[in-house]
Amino acid sequence: MRAFIPISKPNITEKEISYVNAAVTSTWVSSLGEYIIKFEKDFASFCGVDYAVSVFNGTVAIHLALEALGIGEGDEVIMPNLSFIATANAVLHARAVPVFADIEPDTLCIDANDIERKITGKTKAIMPVHLYGHPANMNSILKIASEHDLLVIEDAAEAHGAKAFGKTVGSFGKCATFSFYGNKIITTGEGGMITTNDQVLDKRLRHLRDHAMLKEKRYWHDTLGFNYRMTNLQAALGCAQLERVGFLLSRRNEILRTYEKHLAGVKRLSLNKHADWAEPSCWLVCMEIQGASEKERDEFMIHLNQAGIDSRPYFFPMSFMPYINMPVDTPVTFEKYKIGLNLPTYIDLSEEEIEYVCSVIKKYL
Ligand SMILES: Cc1ncc(COP(=O)(O)O)c(C=O)c1O
Repeated sequence: MRAFIPISKPNITEKEISYVNAAVTSTWVSSLGEYIIKFEKDFASFCGVDYAVSVFNGTVAIHLALEALGIGEGDEVIMPNLSFIATANAVLHARAVPVFADIEPDTLCIDANDIERKITGKTKAIMPVHLYGHPANMNSILKIASEHDLLVIEDAAEAHGAKAFGKTVGSFGKCATFSFYGNKIITTGEGGMITTNDQVLDKRLRHLRDHAMLKEKRYWHDTLGFNYRMTNLQAALGCAQLERVGFLLSRRNEILRTYEKHLAGVKRLSLNKHADWAEPSCWLVCMEIQGASEKERDEFMIHLNQAGIDSRPYFFPMSFMPYINMPVDTPVTFEKYKIGLNLPTYIDLSEEEIEYVCSVIKKYL
């Protein structure tokens, strides 16, 4: 009997084990230690920015960025309607208002034309999401932001190492946020990072991350802060993963190429598309069944599951969530979420397993 093929699985080698071991053995198990310093430095250089501030996960990375930038009560933040809910939740936790724009059909990222339509006197920031590893069109977004004097915060949780117009994501906006959850391109178990070129913002993020305690006066807190610190254990795992990121990225792209090879010519089916200015990082293989209803897509996923293959549906439009429940005009999002799903995408997935997944898909469709 074939083993169940999961949707994702972290790739942990002797390097990760030895770094985490070293961190534990050093007794620096909380949020001070040499791995924290190294992980932040190496991640900043990986993204081509001056500063990187590690935090506990990708959701608090967004929240901390918003707080540090002074975005709060009543401020509007424009984001794509198709994303993981953390993007909107972090804005709600900051007491600001998520405003949902539509996506582009090919990149699945925010549509710059719709951003322009959604700008009001209350708009403070644009938060593009580099969805499933494809970068948003940062040239168009930065142009709109500069014309309207808006901040840009990239949600790069799913796109470590992806490039737009030859530049790495995480280096475009005022700042960018990343996630290192177990299914991400590199993982620290739970974990997150904020990248920026702004020295003042870097200082403010570090201050707020650590209970807003004054460096020069211990246990004096000049504002309401947070404990959002990453541990040295998480950073040890992150350092080892980051040393291997070239391999991790190329392997994911190779997996997509293998799916493409085995699914070429299948009617109604399309896989990840990409813009000619983009070098995506294939976080997850995306498959769409043209013309499918949500029910048909869900039945197909049940079929995959019965054949021992895990998959996951595209995110629901965030505007649908009962506590958000906003009427919005995002027709492409409403069409795409129903027809899309993600297929198993992880480093140890063999060509034989991909062939099996593709044979099940072909037979069904
Ligand atoms: C687009 C996006 N934003 C934010 C997050 C939040 O990251 P985390 O799960 O580390 O809190 C995720 C993660 O899953 C994500 O996919």
